[in-house]
Amino acid sequence: MIEVRAPGKLYIAGEYAVVEPGRPAVLVAVDRFITVRVQAAHGAGHIRSDQFANLPLVWHRLDGDLVIEYEETPYSFVLSAIRAVEDAGRSLGAPLTLFDLDIASELDDASGRKFGLGSSAAVTVATVRALAGFYGLRLSEMELFKLALIAADDVQRSGSGGDIAASMFGGWIAYTSFDRAWLRSQRFDVPVADLIRQDWPGLAVRPLTPPAGLRLLGGWTGTPASTSRLVGDVQTRKRGRSAHYSDFLTASTACVATLAEAFSAGDTAAILREIRRNRALLNALSEHTGAVIETPQLRRLVEIAERAGAAAKSSGAGGGDCGIVLCGAGTATRAIVRAWREAGIRPLALSVHPRLEVLG
Ligand code: PMV
Ligand code: MG
Repeated sequence: MIEVRAPGKLYIAGEYAVVEPGRPAVLVAVDRFITVRVQAAHGAGHIRSDQFANLPLVWHRLDGDLVIEYEETPYSFVLSAIRAVEDAGRSLGAPLTLFDLDIASELDDASGRKFGLGSSAAVTVATVRALAGFYGLRLSEMELFKLALIAADDVQRSGSGGDIAASMFGGWIAYTSFDRAWLRSQRFDVPVADLIRQDWPGLAVRPLTPPAGLRLLGGWTGTPASTSRLVGDVQTRKRGRSAHYSDFLTASTACVATLAEAFSAGDTAAILREIRRNRALLNALSEHTGAVIETPQLRRLVEIAERAGAAAKSSGAGGGDCGIVLCGAGTATRAIVRAWREAGIRPLALSVHPRLEVLG
């Protein structure tokens, strides 16, 4: 039996720009997990999740392939991850067998509403890791990461992959996105096992070390948001505003680069400055595209934190979901949390999930 945990994530800066090839973002992995367990099965395999207790998926194997009765399932990321690992496994000569796969999530609340902590990414990463372990595939962390990116790209065609990177490597990271058009041009010509060994244009992951005393708070607005719809809105509307959009990309790239330098320099004041700058850039993007990134509840979240001297912004696509706060050791975080509660914002008890050793 193989059991694997993958953490959720929060975006810190660089959102929206990072969906373009070669553009960077900063993210952090948080200590809430999805756990995937894989064990050998006989007769039929099952995929089960505590999120869909009444919806186990039963599958068979026919001529080596996965056969599922109905494709319309809430397991699209899991199935895509299974397919990517099995594709690689086939090339590597691993015998494919039946298994049961069980998923337990701390990234969604009991009613199934998402916090926006990256449950699709975490379940993709955990499934890739667990199944590669189950089949005993010898793959590097970078190869597993690329398998997870392929799996996610096969089902959701707009994500930057930053969430996958955070869940895969843990800790604070600077992520630069790969060229999706390039990946799709390779996807059906190059076997998956070869594709994951290649260098991908644009793709980079670099660990960041936070200055001692830097504190991270997350707050949940209570409203789940659809990342794919918001990214779709921005992508559609950027066309008519191409001058502003290219300025936005340049400014966001510079902001994230300065933010990463501020981490290296251990300069908390500079980190807070860049968080505020990134917020302003996202608000301008919102004005130009009409996509509502900072909702009134997110603005409240930010203003409460600013009053205490902290820097804050929406995290990820915004439109609801979470906001993040960064501050130095001296900030009265209790006052922020209290004021949030009064405003109907739910503080998330999160810590940073430490980085994997492999990233250095
Ligand atoms: O809302 P989230 O946490 O899924 O983050 C989305 C971040 C975007 O940059 C807007 C999109 C992406 O895939 O990077
Ligand atoms: Mg979101």
